[in-house]
Amino acid sequence: MKVFTTVEGLRAELTEVRRAGLTIEFVPTMGALHEGHLRLIQRARRDGGVVVVSIFVNPTQFGESEDFETYPRDLDADLALAGGLGVGMVFAPAAVEMYPGGEVRTTVDPGPLGGILEGAHRPGHFTGVATVCAKLFSIVGPDRVYVGRKDAQQVAVLKQMVNDLNLAVELVACPTVREEDGLAMSSRNRRLSPDQRREAPAIFEALQAASAAARARESSADALLGACRAVLDRHPSVRVQYLELVDQQTFEPVDRVPPDALLVIAAQLGSVRLIDNTIVGTAERPEREGVV
Ligand code: PAJ
Repeated sequence: MKVFTTVEGLRAELTEVRRAGLTIEFVPTMGALHEGHLRLIQRARRDGGVVVVSIFVNPTQFGESEDFETYPRDLDADLALAGGLGVGMVFAPAAVEMYPGGEVRTTVDPGPLGGILEGAHRPGHFTGVATVCAKLFSIVGPDRVYVGRKDAQQVAVLKQMVNDLNLAVELVACPTVREEDGLAMSSRNRRLSPDQRREAPAIFEALQAASAAARARESSADALLGACRAVLDRHPSVRVQYLELVDQQTFEPVDRVPPDALLVIAAQLGSVRLIDNTIVGTAERPEREGVV
């Protein structure tokens, strides 16, 4: 496995890969790799090309009061994990390599989709995500990019960007990987205290309560959200930022399950902010994996 910290070095190597007729399978990450990331890498390997993983804690997607400084970083452990999974190349640039002079001039604005839900609570977040992904896609030139449905709105923002800017990449969305107790895996889980860690699965439990209600033919948003809140009310340390039933494409609120809708939640435990989502519908449908 080769590790690159400069755009120039990575590009030179990728030119050779393309010359050899191999495809480029790309998994962008912010490191502190966990099983959720590893499944994306394993999925990328199945497509048979050279797997490139980026590890970059992107400062422009964090707000002023957010956890950029305390975001977990462990490059040595990440490299060991990636090496064990047959990753061909890791791109781990410093911030100055991505943003020379610390300046960000040209940005990608995802429009209204970037301003609702996550975007409403984290102003500028999706502009930061879309911009760094546009840069990374341009640097790596991948055939396919693998992303996780845990960050459902991020998938939608990237899909919109790929379509709107006619980027020649295929986005492959992969299911959310969870701990045994249902907590969605996240690099931020490492920052939970033992008490918070015990409470955190209430987020998924609440989503499941809505899924169960939907399977029992309950289809009004009020009833489904009520089922969620009944669970969350028993866990006052889980402070909900938003809990909404939205259309899977537009992320606009819906008042009934259409047949399927996306239930999205963000909650804070102490200073740790976690997000999760699930598809709820009258038909039991597992989260799909595939090109979006
Ligand atoms: P990061 O949070 O490190 O996540 C990298 C990728 O792993 C994303 O596509 C995310 O959705 C996926 N992922 C994280 N946890 C997952 C889980 N439990 N199950 C399945 N997939 C999971 O998302 C980012 O980094 C950044 O915003 C990035 C796209 C790299 C841009 O900076």
